[in-house]
Amino acid sequence: MSQDSARDPHAPQDATAGTSSNRSGRTSAADGEAGCGGEPGDGEATDDASPCGGVAGDEAGGGAGVSPGGAARHRRRLVAALRRDGLIRSAAVAAAFDAVPRELFAPPGTPVDAAYADRVAVLAADAAGVPTSTLSQPSIVAIMLEQLDVRPGHRVLEIGTGSGYNTALLAELAGARGRVTSVELDAGLVASAAARLAELGPGGGTPMDLRHGDGWRGSADGAPYDRIHATVGVDDIAPTWRTQLADGGLLVAPLWLRPGLELSVALRRDGSVLRSVSVARCGFLQLRGPHAAGPHARPLSAGAIGLWVVGEALSGADTETIGLLAGRKGTAAGPVPDLTDRRWWALALSEPRTVLFTDAHGAPAAWGAYDAEQAGLAIAIDGWLTSYGDPGVADDVMSRLADCPDVDPTEMEISAYPTGSPLPRRPSRGATWRIIRRDHTYRIHWNPDRGSGRER
Ligand SMILES: C[S@@+](CC[C@H](N)C(=O)[O-])C[C@H]1O[C@@H](n2cnc3c(N)ncnc32)[C@H](O)[C@@H]1O
Repeated sequence: MSQDSARDPHAPQDATAGTSSNRSGRTSAADGEAGCGGEPGDGEATDDASPCGGVAGDEAGGGAGVSPGGAARHRRRLVAALRRDGLIRSAAVAAAFDAVPRELFAPPGTPVDAAYADRVAVLAADAAGVPTSTLSQPSIVAIMLEQLDVRPGHRVLEIGTGSGYNTALLAELAGARGRVTSVELDAGLVASAAARLAELGPGGGTPMDLRHGDGWRGSADGAPYDRIHATVGVDDIAPTWRTQLADGGLLVAPLWLRPGLELSVALRRDGSVLRSVSVARCGFLQLRGPHAAGPHARPLSAGAIGLWVVGEALSGADTETIGLLAGRKGTAAGPVPDLTDRRWWALALSEPRTVLFTDAHGAPAAWGAYDAEQAGLAIAIDGWLTSYGDPGVADDVMSRLADCPDVDPTEMEISAYPTGSPLPRRPSRGATWRIIRRDHTYRIHWNPDRGSGRER
């Protein structure tokens, strides 16, 4: 089994658990650091509330032999469930979900009830069976479309056409006066999506332009776009997405920040800066091609069979060393009784050495930190931090963790500045972190007062 990144079962997924999307490509640039605790100074609902999916004996999906009435019933249930869960909030997104038959875009042979289950489906895989394209889970599609806020008449660019399902939803939202351009790396998927969309004729005649190519480059001839929707994960925003976005326009992308911390971020363009307007948790297949990042997840080579390690920039040699260190007898570095994911995320934002151990399906198993130069490893298990090899990294974690706030990632304010451009002063309240990637530097701010509504 293999995987791409840690899959928190509570984060809506694009990628299937235990899958990998990316085994090659560049490693992201070294990250900047900041103190953990921040430094001062610086529609309409249907009444059908039954769960989505799960009506036995329905017809096969994938376009063939589906009774329109049966599919429509499933579609209404899916919309009702997504509304009930607060994931669909607007009449426009509800209407788009109601209008587009998901079974048409599901892998051939998918039963119609499965096509409307809140699950991801694999569309394409590489020679090793590792998925390279998926039909995303309806939950995350709904969340991202609400974040994107497409209005009639908008010019929209989608990165990662996949099945064409989201393209059809975008077309519904943009309407006949709008336009949707979608770029996909896999030529076969472009052809099949084009055929499905032609069969459907969605969006009341919205002009659609499907393109085969590397979405990292955007699509210059249709720019500027009012909305850009990346449906593939990245650890850095492509500069072309920023420059091809109209000033004031919105870009939604799944941004991998740190192990276990992948966020669907809606960013508004403000000149050369992108500023978040909303943040949600997610898990996505990662971008492939010449601008692919990572890989962020690797199997442990020795010692701990079946475990994977997720990190910022881990080589095969690193995972071999981690496996060897973890196989030794450790030393107790100190108690970490109140260790929550939220505190560890706060640590991870300032500490690029953070790692996350997962099982083969991507379920988180333990937090840790690894220093290649010091040959030191720290792992938090059962309320204790255990040190392996050089104790320096465990000592660092112990002292820094004490100051880490219990952050809520969905309340973070994230801004992307072109790397090398000046960053503003830190706000006086809350915690601020900086992550430097090749093309953008991310300034992440979390204000504990924001959650209470005092500064909204
Ligand atoms: C999660 S799937 C997209 C799902 C799609 N929006 C749908 O509704 O079916 C991600 C897609 O991104 C594509 N992709 C990966 N790297 C890409 C790149 N560099 N440029 C364009 N598309 C890419 C994959 O081939 C895959 O189809």
